[in-house]
Amino acid sequence: MRKMDLHSGVDARVLIIGCGISGIGAAQKLIKQGFRNVRIIEATSRSGGRIKTGSLDGKIIEIGANWIHGPSQENPVFNLASHYHLLDEECLSEENQSVEIDGLPPLFSSWLSSSGKKLEADLMAPAVEVFMTLLKKSQEFYNTSRAPMSSVGEFLKTEALRISNEEWKEDQARKVRKALFSTLLKLECGVSGTHTMDDVDLATFGMYKSLPGLDCTFPGGYEGLIKHMMNELPKDIVLFNKPVKCIHWNSFHSRASSKGRTCPVAVECFNGETFEADHIILTIPLGYMKKHHDTLLNPPLPQHKLHSMQKLGFGTNNKIFLELEKPFWDEDCEVMFLVWEDEYDLQDCVSDVKTAWIRKMSCFTVLKPTERYGHMLCGWIAGQESEYMETLPEEEVLHTMTKLLHQFTGNPTIAIKKLVRSRWFHDPYTCGSYSYVARGCSGQDIENLAEPLPLRGSKAEPLQVLFAGEATHKSFFSTVHGALLTGWREADRLISHYNLSARKITANL
Ligand SMILES: Cc1cc2nc3c(=O)[nH]c(=O)nc-3n(C[C@H](O)[C@H](O)[C@H](O)COP(=O)(O)OP(=O)(O)OC[C@H]3O[C@@H](n4cnc5c(N)ncnc54)[C@H](O)[C@@H]3O)c2cc1C
Ligand SMILES: *[C@@H]1O[C@H](CO)[C@@H](O)[C@H](O)[C@H]1NC(C)=O
Ligand SMILES: *[C@@H]1O[C@H](CO)[C@@H](O)[C@H](O)[C@H]1NC(C)=O
Repeated sequence: MRKMDLHSGVDARVLIIGCGISGIGAAQKLIKQGFRNVRIIEATSRSGGRIKTGSLDGKIIEIGANWIHGPSQENPVFNLASHYHLLDEECLSEENQSVEIDGLPPLFSSWLSSSGKKLEADLMAPAVEVFMTLLKKSQEFYNTSRAPMSSVGEFLKTEALRISNEEWKEDQARKVRKALFSTLLKLECGVSGTHTMDDVDLATFGMYKSLPGLDCTFPGGYEGLIKHMMNELPKDIVLFNKPVKCIHWNSFHSRASSKGRTCPVAVECFNGETFEADHIILTIPLGYMKKHHDTLLNPPLPQHKLHSMQKLGFGTNNKIFLELEKPFWDEDCEVMFLVWEDEYDLQDCVSDVKTAWIRKMSCFTVLKPTERYGHMLCGWIAGQESEYMETLPEEEVLHTMTKLLHQFTGNPTIAIKKLVRSRWFHDPYTCGSYSYVARGCSGQDIENLAEPLPLRGSKAEPLQVLFAGEATHKSFFSTVHGALLTGWREADRLISHYNLSARKITANL
């Protein structure tokens, strides 16, 4: 019996929009299944998207994704990275793969205060413990319909205040512990990629799933993973520098080039070029979709998809890398928290962004090992304060950071050698850092976002526009492994669609 090429999928025209890890993953899977007509259209001149390795003074720094979160057997990024031999021995050890982490990884921390003094670990430890316990509690409301408040921020603040007032004497120590709560809230803003934890939904907070394993990095840079994946794809599969303007679906485009066939989708680029396709896999970031949804799809998104897309959260988290002549921290120190002693009101955002944006910076992590990085710090800053920081000239950021270090160490001689920062909000093809489940949203909104077009029950050509990317994964949103899994998921959707129709045709013949 002759195989029907179109219906076995190999000739179906699949256009993947976006060459981040979800798009690359989708392409890899389709090509392995024999799809011959797969292309990736990418707005920029590079692949990797939010996986972006840069350099500072010849040293590798990660502008985007940093860690493999939960490096263990269940994590496809971990498996790929070990397959390509990109990881250190330490990361691969069975022991480290089975570490279960609740909250912050066990880092050697120190606490610097705005009065220039180091705060004692014994003084800070009770506050850290309370905060971590509360964070864990906020995850336990998922699926219980017992969430007492609507946002994680409200819950953390209310409970932290209650506990500090009940359990700690009213004195200077209580004040400074409350100030540390503000710092930890700001850190959580970065973890969630939000302006304030008041915007993060409490009832769904536990939907995010952590995998076991001690978070690890790529010694040669995260982009090494992208390079290896790209090497397995046919050359010239990616069309670079072609930002997509509009996806015209549910329409028929017949061209001579299609050998008389018609395609239900046409992708129009900003440069005027048009590409026809049977299927689109859309992997562009939620931030870009939010900003451009009214022109990106024609016809536009159905109402429920549109609403879910608008409701879901997408915020900013940036890094500011500093190279210093000499370290001012202890050798074993891995993270330094910044505690503003006057912030005992448990606030995670500032009232005047222009004058006080720097207060949103929660901590510095120390890049390790020192032999590889020298004396390098990474400052973390989230939210609108971070978005404002992006607009400032580099000298001004450098000046503000220098002042901050002087204030928090009490040492006015510290000098920054070099500074590099990320600017994800103003990246025109990302428009922020990653997604979160905003207040009032649920897993259903993510499912709505991920639902293919046309909707089920339509008589039009099926699976014209498929949705992948980090923001479309219900339990691993905001991560690299989440993104990769969504690319595979949508490739599988096409693969099983064609397997099914191939079986039907064979049966009918
Ligand atoms: C600062 C930062 C730190 C992070 N840290 C971690 C971490 O430690 N661990 C972790 O697991 N995750 C981390 N993440 C998240 C992780 O990087 C992302 O979840 C993941 O890389 C997203 O992959 P993606 O394929 O969904 O999207 P992207 O990588 O964003 O790919 C989308 C692609 O679409 C392209 N595009 C956009 N618009 C258009 C258009 N109109 N036409 C054509 N192409 C377009 C973009 O240029 C981009 O290449 C971090 C992210 C940031 C920003
Ligand atoms: C686990 O990871 C830590 C931190 O990277 C490392 O110091 C340790 O040696 C690792 N353990 C093993 C058994 O490799
Ligand atoms: C939560 O509920 C959904 C559906 O109601 C179910 O699919 C999921 O497995 C549940 N998750 C947990 C952690 O109980």
